[in-house]
Amino acid sequence: MPRATLLAPVVAHRGASAHAPENTIAAIRLAAEQGATAVEIDVSISADGVAFVHHDDGLERCTNGKGYLCSHNASDLDRLSAGVLFPDYASEPLPRLSAVLECIQEHNLALNLEIKPTPGLEEPTTKIICETVAAHWHAGNTLLYSSFSREALASAMQLQPETPRALIVCAIPENWPEQLAAYQCSNFHFAAPLANQQALQAMRDKGYGLYCFTVNDSAEAAELYKLGVHGVFSDCPGELIKAL
Ligand code: G3P
Ligand code: MG
Repeated sequence: MPRATLLAPVVAHRGASAHAPENTIAAIRLAAEQGATAVEIDVSISADGVAFVHHDDGLERCTNGKGYLCSHNASDLDRLSAGVLFPDYASEPLPRLSAVLECIQEHNLALNLEIKPTPGLEEPTTKIICETVAAHWHAGNTLLYSSFSREALASAMQLQPETPRALIVCAIPENWPEQLAAYQCSNFHFAAPLANQQALQAMRDKGYGLYCFTVNDSAEAAELYKLGVHGVFSDCPGELIKAL
């Protein structure tokens, strides 16, 4: 029987990403200041095999770079600003995973590391993430890998079987028991508007951890807790934590 990996009722989604640039050290520090005890980040890799914390395949939305993150070397990515959406954070760097792991441990947070490979790079992305984690994650704090990518989950299961995993989907598939079993997942993460009460009850009964994205409204979070979810990913963790 799977044992749920418990993060927190409110998990800071990409850090406190409503008020600081998502997936940056600043957003993680702010989440901790707001009272968050768990954070979610997205991770992919550079052309020369360094893990960076960033959501999109492309650099345009969140940084002053251009093109695919995976087509640039780390030394070029190190020079980018990831604060372009927030005028007060113009000098905030695009962070390496190694630096973010150190920051998360300094703040004693639990971590949900979402493996976000550019399609085609599932295996190298997961391998480099696992190596970076092995080198930089010394805390006893909770660490959970998650991914939409089945190939990434399969690689993580092979490389670091002892680190728990979550499958992420938008809608809950009918064959969720087979899908969760295939990657020996402890948790299931899905889009909040597609929560399905019957499936949630069955998953709870089987011992899975259930987390929904992305919830920025405390009334919506309260409804989801009533349905049996363990927690929600939120861009404004401070506001939801106050309403708990
Ligand atoms: O891990 C939950 C959530 O972050 C998944 O979607 O696109 O925000 O990474 P996305
Ligand atoms: Mg994510």
